[in-house]
Amino acid sequence: MSKKRVLTGITTSGTPHLGNYVGAIRPAVEASLSGTFDSFFFLADYHALIKCQDPDRVHQSTLEIAAAWLALGLDPKKVTFYRQSDIPEIPQLTWLLTCMTAKGLMNRAHAYKGAVQANEEAGENADSAVTMGLFSYPILMAADILMFNAHRIPVGRDQIQHVEMARDIAQRFNHHYGDHFVLPSAQVDDDASVLQGLDGRKMSKSYGNTIPLFLSEKQLKKHINKIKTNLLEPGEPKDPGDSTVFQIWQAFASPDQTETMRAAFADGIAWGEAKKQLFELINGQLKEPREKYLELIENPSRVESVLQQGAEKARQHSQNLMSVLRNSVGIRPL
Ligand code: TRP
Repeated sequence: MSKKRVLTGITTSGTPHLGNYVGAIRPAVEASLSGTFDSFFFLADYHALIKCQDPDRVHQSTLEIAAAWLALGLDPKKVTFYRQSDIPEIPQLTWLLTCMTAKGLMNRAHAYKGAVQANEEAGENADSAVTMGLFSYPILMAADILMFNAHRIPVGRDQIQHVEMARDIAQRFNHHYGDHFVLPSAQVDDDASVLQGLDGRKMSKSYGNTIPLFLSEKQLKKHINKIKTNLLEPGEPKDPGDSTVFQIWQAFASPDQTETMRAAFADGIAWGEAKKQLFELINGQLKEPREKYLELIENPSRVESVLQQGAEKARQHSQNLMSVLRNSVGIRPL
């Protein structure tokens, strides 16, 4: 039996942070090294244009995200690692799917509905600043997924609806044109893998509370010192359950190290000391990847060549499937 195919995309609009590492990069790299799955990971640069219209940012983010995944152990020989825009069949498939997607389905998408609601609350026209990219973005995402017949799609909770839409669209296409697509399912990690940010909310670029992954040691220390704590003095017992320092510790520590820190909290460890230990723990794990990362950032052509090889691998699937699909919809030589 062939291996189950796992696929996920990373939008290239930001700088990778510790939350991305714990929630997405680390589990994906581990799963891909175990060899249980046939993994597809890609840089979703067409998706980036929906929310980021700063060309330099999109370009730089693409380099940073690719370099981060490679530096953190992604082995491009074991997975298919590519950039969405290197696969011309993806926008082609997007159109075939667009013609099979009910507008009403897109009306129900959370991202679009959220934008409309925000406009109404602000007293603006409902569709103010809503582009067709935002409106039909679930179709582009469906094309990403269906193109490679992926079974499992690891995503955050906010993306479950999009995977379900991909499934609906696939069903409709299959029903009309024949059984071409695997029906995908979202795979959502438990909450344990959601890292808290500096202010205790989920670490996210949109909250501005992130710790970037590849800071210098000095900057990493500085960021860790900014993590919000309460006012308990050294010697006063502290509750690990409501501490961001502890939550982040746990995401990087072994079970033994976690128990040691739990005991230190009970013993009233000073916040400064707990943060110092947290810095050492994280820095120890990131030291080597940081060197690799910086080397790649300084040599973008090496990253480019990895992506080109990935695109070649990915296109072996996409070109085949696209020619079958074109034929099935009636676009074929006379
Ligand atoms: N929209 C996803 C996000 O914002 C990224 C993404 C694009 C994706 N295409 C995908 C994820 C396909 C999984 C599968 O996180």
